[in-house]
Amino acid sequence: TALADFIRGLPKAELHLHIEGSLEPEQMFEFARRNRVDLPFRTVEEVRAAYAFSNLQDFLDIYYQGANVLRTEADFHDLALAYFRRVAADGARHVELFFDPQTHTDRGVPFQVVADGLMGGMAEAEKTLGVSSSLILCFLRHLDEDAAFATLNMAEPYLDRILGVGLDSSEVGHPPSKFAGVFKAARERGLKLVAHAGEEGPPEYVWEALDVLGVDRIDHGNRALEDEALVRRLVAEGITLTVCPLSNLKLCVVDDLKQHPLKRMLALGLKATINSDDPAYFGGYLAQNWTETAEALGLTRDELVTLAKNSFTGAFLPPEVVARHV
Ligand code: ADE
Ligand code: ZN
Repeated sequence: TALADFIRGLPKAELHLHIEGSLEPEQMFEFARRNRVDLPFRTVEEVRAAYAFSNLQDFLDIYYQGANVLRTEADFHDLALAYFRRVAADGARHVELFFDPQTHTDRGVPFQVVADGLMGGMAEAEKTLGVSSSLILCFLRHLDEDAAFATLNMAEPYLDRILGVGLDSSEVGHPPSKFAGVFKAARERGLKLVAHAGEEGPPEYVWEALDVLGVDRIDHGNRALEDEALVRRLVAEGITLTVCPLSNLKLCVVDDLKQHPLKRMLALGLKATINSDDPAYFGGYLAQNWTETAEALGLTRDELVTLAKNSFTGAFLPPEVVARHV
């Protein structure tokens, strides 16, 4: 369609993408076969049928299970490269991608295997596809802060090649303040800071991410709309929200894409962006998120251009690089 072509042709950045969430069922079988890992599924169709979630935890349980097939540096390299091929075709020029080292190190896969594999795939993508990227290391918030510190220490030799740290996994019951110390340590190391907040958790978690962790960006942020003072704060400080519409639909954060708050966020002056979160699990990569959201909400061409600009000005890119894209 004309809309889909317009969206594909807009230079875009993706700022909220969990690389483990780009593991397609076909690839899951391939990695399981080459690593001799048993899967609880027999066919791709069986896997897809299991992707019916009623909340975040439902999804996380199956997402961590899927990640179990990732064992070697080649797996992480191939996973990253397959994602970049898709997102390059969607018109993405830059990606700031999340990875969850604890999901792997807790199963005995060394941090170096994960990081070297991903960084190799990213370098190849930049060279062959022209998509630049950086890594954001996420701490799993259902684990304790000591485990997050141990992960930051493991990452030490790589920190000059890691853009920032984030906070993901089960939100409710694990407020940002639980990680105040490790975020302070990360800031002192010169890392950028982001956190998932207000996906399922209350507006208070968004306040904490800003005031206790001092984040530079909020991942999701949907529930910030419940608090007018918080909206004013986010607008005044120009804080970017990395919104993920198809994720919100699949995890029942919204009942219908037509009720998605993205258009309202833009109208309020919030610096929202569109992202895919875990595209293999939620039914679409970057352009699919843009197109379905634009159709459901009747986004105008001006609004789409604003969203594309936000994706670059909200990225942690030097101003001269941002200027080349907007
Ligand atoms: N891990 C992967 N995707 C996530 C999401 N949408 N929220 C929290 N943790 C995640
Ligand atoms: Zn996410």
